Order: sequence, then C-alpha cells, then structure tokens
Amino acid sequence: MIWQANQKDDMNRAAVALQAGQLVAFPTETVYGLGADGLNTQACQAIYEAKGRPSDNPLILHIADLAMLEDICQNIPDRAYVLAEAFWPGPLTLILEKTSLVSEVVSGGLDTVAVRMPNHPVALELIRKVGRPLAAPSANLSGRPSPTTATHVAIDLEDRIAGILDGGPCEVGLESTIVDLTVDPPAILRPGGISAEALEKVLGLVNTGQALDPDQAPKAPGMKYRHYAPSVPVYLLDEGRLAEEVDEVLKGQGDKQIGFLLSDELIGALPVVNAGIYLYNLGSHKQPDLAAQRLFSGLRYLDLQEVDVMYAEPWEEKGIGVAIMNRMHKLALSYEEGNTCM
Ligand code: TXA
Ligand code: MG
Repeated sequence: MIWQANQKDDMNRAAVALQAGQLVAFPTETVYGLGADGLNTQACQAIYEAKGRPSDNPLILHIADLAMLEDICQNIPDRAYVLAEAFWPGPLTLILEKTSLVSEVVSGGLDTVAVRMPNHPVALELIRKVGRPLAAPSANLSGRPSPTTATHVAIDLEDRIAGILDGGPCEVGLESTIVDLTVDPPAILRPGGISAEALEKVLGLVNTGQALDPDQAPKAPGMKYRHYAPSVPVYLLDEGRLAEEVDEVLKGQGDKQIGFLLSDELIGALPVVNAGIYLYNLGSHKQPDLAAQRLFSGLRYLDLQEVDVMYAEPWEEKGIGVAIMNRMHKLALSYEEGNTCM
C-alpha cells in the first residue's frame, strides 16, 4: 500500500498502523526508513525479518524532540546537546548510553543506542502522531542500495510491510553521519550527510579513523556486511586513468550491456556510445551534493536496465565526497580486480 504523505487521512493511517505494531516506510531527508514503534519489541523484531537483516546489526531510533532523547538515553554528555543544537533536526546520528526502555532487539545487545532527529516534515509529524520514537533502518532489503524514493522501497518491500508513505525523493541521498559519543574523542563510525569538517568546528577533535580504516574492527556493526550493492558487479574506475579505462571498457563491450555512473564532465567528453551502453549522470564535480543524492538512485536505475556490469567514477574525498567514496568502496571492486576476473 502506498500512502500519500500530503494527505491527512493517509498520514493518520500510517500512524495508526505503527501504533498497532505494524511496519511503515517513511521519508527522511537522507533515505527512506523502515519504521516501527521503537518501544515495541515485537514490532522492532519484525523489521529484521522484513529486511532479512542480521540481528546483531542494531537500529536507529528517530525522535522529534529532546524529551524523547531523555527517555531513551542516560548520562547524556553536554556535547550531545551541543551537537543537537548545531545539527538537529538533520543527518546526524548519535551513539549514547541507553535506558532500560530500549530493548536488546533495538540495540543489538549493546548497552548503547543510536538516535537521530530527522530533518523531514513528514518524518517529524509521523513521530509526533505516534507519540514514540520510531526505530528505522534504511528501507531496503538487506545488502541492497538504500532507497531514496517510495518506488525504490516498493520494489524491495511492498509485500512485506503495512504501507509506504510517499513524501517524494530524498534530498541528501546518503545515510546520516554516525558519531559515537561514548568514547573520547568522539568517533565517526559512518561518514554521511554531515562532514567531519563541520563536526570538528563544533566539537574540536573528532576521530575519523574508526570508519575509514578497513583493517580495524568495525564499531558500527552494520559496516561489516556487504552493502549498497546492486545485483551485478560494480567496478570503481581509477581516478588517474579515467578516460583510458572507459575507452577500454567501451572497446571490449562485445554483446554485454554496460552501465556507467559518471560525472557530467566525463560524459561530456565521451564519443557517441553504442546500443547497450547506459550512462547515468551523477552531476558535476563542482556539486558533490548532487552525486550523493543520485548515487543509490543510479545504481537502482542501472539494475532495472538489466546491465551485466557497472563502472563508477570516483569522487574527491572532501566534505560529502568522503561519504560518497565510503559507499563506493563498500559496493564496488577496483577496476583492476575487474580486469583480472574477466
Ligand atoms: O540516515 C540514516 O541514518 C537512515 C535513515 C532512515 O535515518 N537510517 C539508516 O539506518 O541508515 P541503518 O540501519 O541502515 O544503519 C544504521 C547503522 C548501522 O550500521 C548500525 O550498525 C549502526 O547504525 N548502529 C546502530 N546502533 C548502533 C550502536 N548502538 N552502536 C554502533 N552502531 C550502531
Ligand atoms: Mg542500511
């Protein structure tokens, strides 16, 4: 069932379903979330089943005000309030010590909980109507790209959940930045919509090594699983050999259907391509926000064209570019690995 977020009756239906312990997907500014009453253990358990998600990968609780934060977290440090003041509502998730209201199912057995106040009028209104925090992971089947439209959610989950609230496409397009405030200095566990630079302006020193060092044990349990991947292999092109590699791929096309996720600049420099070549434009390097917004959508678009393989152009690892490259590294193999497999 797809409900329209701008219809009052549909908003009410969604809230009633959530209060009854059912699952409802809803829009946030980052990606669509698969929502359940965050204080209803059974409803939260159902999220894992609907997504096919491993049970040690905990959920984020979405709140609409600081009173909700104080219900679900304890020993909240001052810097949590400083970050909330600076970035909430917004694409920032804080890891804090949980209270006994938060079940093991939500926290994945940890004594901490992830909390976020989303910057989307539909999400905030829904949380207020339900009157409780909403547990919500990204509303995709486990392992697939996160959904940035209601249609993406429907393709993955429509027959498994009570409904999907359609609030249009998501603005940020990548998931929230996760910051662990139970350690000193605070650690970024997942880069996202709020950059390390922006956090450091407010917090001082932030540990960015946690998320970016692939040899270190992942602290956000979800980061250890294969993620964001479409159904065919994706290869990351080499920044220094972009034109040559694209040329090689085009020349070696044979009878394959090939998808590319490229910048406006690179697409502009390409010759006319053959049938069976699909170009998805991630926008200009001058607007990395656009590439962030389009990345998951592009992967899903090319998947629907039934391409046999995809190639993606890397982005500069600065600001939101850090989050873009974090996702690309998780979903793609290097171009060289692709060549040795062929
Ligand atoms: O933007 C977002 O964050 C979206 C929207 C819907 O809010 N949600 C989202 O949820 O991306 P999900 O479940 O796909 O990712 C949550 C991440 C996982 O990597 C999980 O392991 C981590 O948060 N996480 C949750 N609770 C945690 C905790 N207590 N300690 C460390 N990491 C935690
Ligand atoms: Mg996810």
